[in-house]
Amino acid sequence: MTAVADTNRVIIFDTTLRDGEQAPGASMNLDEKLKVAAVLEEMGVDVIEAGFPIASAGDFEAVREVAKLVKNSTVAGLARAARKDIDRAAEALKGAARPRIHTFISTSPLHMKYKLQMTPDQVHQAIIDSVSYARSLVEDVEWSCEDGSRTEHDFLCRCVETAIKAGARTINIPDTVGYATPEEFGALIAMLFDRVPNIDKAIISAHCHNDLGLAVANSLAAVDNGARQVECTINGLGERAGNAAMEEIVMALKTRHDLMPYTTGIRTQSIMKASRMVSAITGFPVQPNKAIVGANAFAHESGIHQDGMLKHAGTYEIMTPESVGLTRSTLVMGKHSGRHAFKTKLKELGFELGDNALEDVFKRFKDLADKKKEIFDEDIVALVDDAVGQDRQRIRFVSLRVVCGSEGPQKADLTLEIDGARKSVDATGDGPVDATFNAIKKLAPHEAKLQLFQVHAVTAGTDAQAEVTVRLEENGKTVNGQGADTDTLVASAKAYLHALNKLLVKREKTAPAALTA
Ligand code: KIV
Ligand code: ZN
Repeated sequence: MTAVADTNRVIIFDTTLRDGEQAPGASMNLDEKLKVAAVLEEMGVDVIEAGFPIASAGDFEAVREVAKLVKNSTVAGLARAARKDIDRAAEALKGAARPRIHTFISTSPLHMKYKLQMTPDQVHQAIIDSVSYARSLVEDVEWSCEDGSRTEHDFLCRCVETAIKAGARTINIPDTVGYATPEEFGALIAMLFDRVPNIDKAIISAHCHNDLGLAVANSLAAVDNGARQVECTINGLGERAGNAAMEEIVMALKTRHDLMPYTTGIRTQSIMKASRMVSAITGFPVQPNKAIVGANAFAHESGIHQDGMLKHAGTYEIMTPESVGLTRSTLVMGKHSGRHAFKTKLKELGFELGDNALEDVFKRFKDLADKKKEIFDEDIVALVDDAVGQDRQRIRFVSLRVVCGSEGPQKADLTLEIDGARKSVDATGDGPVDATFNAIKKLAPHEAKLQLFQVHAVTAGTDAQAEVTVRLEENGKTVNGQGADTDTLVASAKAYLHALNKLLVKREKTAPAALTA
């Protein structure tokens, strides 16, 4: 899929599962990574970076399983410039139809001196050794100069030329710390095309971080100056301020084809589905005003805008909602809606669920319709997100009764199903949320610390569903969980359990433990 003859075709390299997952709290379990990989492949991503195999047993397993699952996209595994890293990546990629080893080393003066404690000549030698070793194991090798945008030009040219000579087919230039500006980053790519004699033997790639909010602009500037691969993530997920957002790059290229005559292989109609899935799995909500995938990205509320829209959609819309997978719905859902209509609605919203998941979500929909007069699309999205979150959990929510109000103590009676067995407990706390979380701790003792508790209403109205995000931290690992319900406390309990279940999966990888007190 990456062998593209069209000189204006831009290769989309998605690193949601590697750089995206490095965002604190964004970790995904194996099942979740496989679901994301399947959607990325379905949407036409050329290269899926599935992980950093040497980093942990979980990363290795994820790369190995994604490599087995994915047939059309190239699957990449990250490796430092060390034989043990490269061996581990090659091992994990064994089952891939199109394996790529992505090896990197820092080239900026700051990184070489303080991080690597290596001289430029040592780094240069490490590039020759690592790239040629990787090439002895797979055909498709990508080399990255970490902190490339802050590297001295002469040294950068020397390293890029060497990496190509050693066998790298793709040369990736990262703006690791998100420091570059579009003009500067575009000029850097142009400089490489001018000065590196064998540059035509490789695809040049951009990998931009968003610390100054310029990652997408820098990526587009790179493309305009000859780069033909961009590295990006769904929703711009990633460490610190994140990576360049794939949906923004792809839709900018599509919408402003008049100025940027480049194409990608992305089926843009899958963008919303991928965005929702990544948000549901990681528990990172998408801000409402986020370009392309935010809830308000296609909403027109002011009278003047609505009037314009009614006369001609082009007055205020530069791309159609349909082009990113949002459908103007014709189906109004309510308590009388049947399975067939529900399935059609899910499809409209970009979800295709298996029979069991469909049955589960349909039951939740019916319960919700009994409680809530109007069911909006956002409600259904929240139901599906919640179901994805609850899928195959060791600790499952069963019921909750809370006594709260100004006269304390607030008390929670909680029933959970833990490894298939029902257990109940009551607990008090400083407020109903505290009481609920204390009850969870009594039934499933753990040391994790609550780092974030966030509630937002899915729609307007006092009967709206609450969507809660909880972040837990244990031994330096952070995880996010999400839950939705018309009852804020039930949503809170579900979100807490979602996060706790993720921590358990992490713990199990090292030492499986009993869950109950
Ligand atoms: O940001 C960066 O420099 C990276 C490299 C490993 C490609 O993620
Ligand atoms: Zn990065």
